[in-house]
Amino acid sequence: MKVLFFLSGNNIFAKDEVFSLFESYELKYEIIYDEGQLLILKISKSNIDFISRLGLTHFVLDVICDFDIDKKINENIFDIDWDSRLSLDRTYKVRVKNKDKIEYGNLELIIAKSISNFFKDKIKANLTNPMDEIVGIIFRHRLFIGKKIFERNKEGFNIRKPQLRPFFSPTSIDPRIARAMINISQAQKEILDPFVGTGGILIEAGLMGLDTYGIDIEEKSVIGTKMNLLNYEINSFDIRLGDARKILEIFGRTFESIATDAPYGRSTKIDKDKEKMYNECFSSIRESFKKKCMIGLDREYPFEDIGFKIDKVYSFRVHKSLIRHFYLLS
Ligand SMILES: C[S@@+](CC[C@H](N)C(=O)[O-])C[C@H]1O[C@@H](n2cnc3c(N)ncnc32)[C@H](O)[C@@H]1O
Repeated sequence: MKVLFFLSGNNIFAKDEVFSLFESYELKYEIIYDEGQLLILKISKSNIDFISRLGLTHFVLDVICDFDIDKKINENIFDIDWDSRLSLDRTYKVRVKNKDKIEYGNLELIIAKSISNFFKDKIKANLTNPMDEIVGIIFRHRLFIGKKIFERNKEGFNIRKPQLRPFFSPTSIDPRIARAMINISQAQKEILDPFVGTGGILIEAGLMGLDTYGIDIEEKSVIGTKMNLLNYEINSFDIRLGDARKILEIFGRTFESIATDAPYGRSTKIDKDKEKMYNECFSSIRESFKKKCMIGLDREYPFEDIGFKIDKVYSFRVHKSLIRHFYLLS
C-alpha cells in the first residue's frame, strides 16, 4: 500500500511527526516520494488508524496512481480500475488541488467522468457529504490520485486555540505543534508535562487517548489547566502543584515520555536565576522518562552537558517575533 501525506507546510517537523508515529507503532515504511508538502510511504500493513493522531498533516491518501501530466493524461485517467476503492452502494466526490502555477484544464471533471464511465453511470456523486473522496494533487507537473483515508479536523484545532480556552496565557503553543511534540516524543500510553502552564500539550494528549500528568509551580496554572482539560471533556488527569526540580518526589515514578515547553520570558519571573533553574529542572526531567523527551525553548541549550543525548533540534518561528527550538532528547 502506498500512502500520501499532504503535510502542512514544507517542514521537517511535520515529516518527523509521521515517521515517529510509524516508529512508535513499530511499522516499517519505505520513503518513495518526498518533495515539498508531499510525502509518500510504502507500507505493508493497511491498519494505520494511528494516523488520526497527526497534528501537522492536512490529509492522507491511499494512493491509486500517479503520472506525469502530458498528452496521455486523459487516457491514463480513463484506464484507472476504480473497483478496489469505490463501490455502487457508496457516494463519492472528486477534488483536485493544483499546487503548480500552470492551468491543466478541468481534471476534476475528467476524473469524475472516468469514475462514472467505469460504473456505467450507476454510481452516485454527492458533493456536500460524500462517503468517499477521491483527491488529485497536481505537483511539479505530476498528478497524484488517491482515496482520502484521513483529514485533520481543522475546526477542532481552531476551537482549541489558546485564546479560546477558559484559562488563557499568551505563552501557550498552537495545538497542532503541541500534538506533533507528543507524537515525536513517541508516547503511546502517557505523557508528563512538568511545566504545564495552561495545559496546551495535555489537552492534545488527552484527546489522543493518552494518560495525562502535569506539574506547575503556580497554583493558578494547576487550577486553570484542570479547567481547560474539563472544557474539552478530558475528565481523567493528574495535575499537581509543585516544582519541576522534584518530579520523582512528586509522582514517585518515571513516565513513558515527556513533552514540555520550558518557561521563558515573562513566565520565568518567578525564578530570577534562570540558568540555575533550567539546570536543576532539566536534570530532574532527565531522570524521569523512559522513551523520549521533547522540550521547547526560546533559545539553544547545551543539553549534553547535563547528560542528555540530543537526537534532533528543530528551530522555527512559532509567532511573528518568536523562534522556538524544540529538542528531541533521549
Ligand atoms: C511556557 S509556560 C508552559 C506553557 C504550556 N505549554 C501551555 O500550553 O500553557 C511555562 C510554565 O512553567 C511554570 N514553571 C516555571 N517554573 C517552574 C518550575 N520550577 N516548576 C514547575 N513549573 C514551573 C510556569 O508557572 C508556567 O506556567
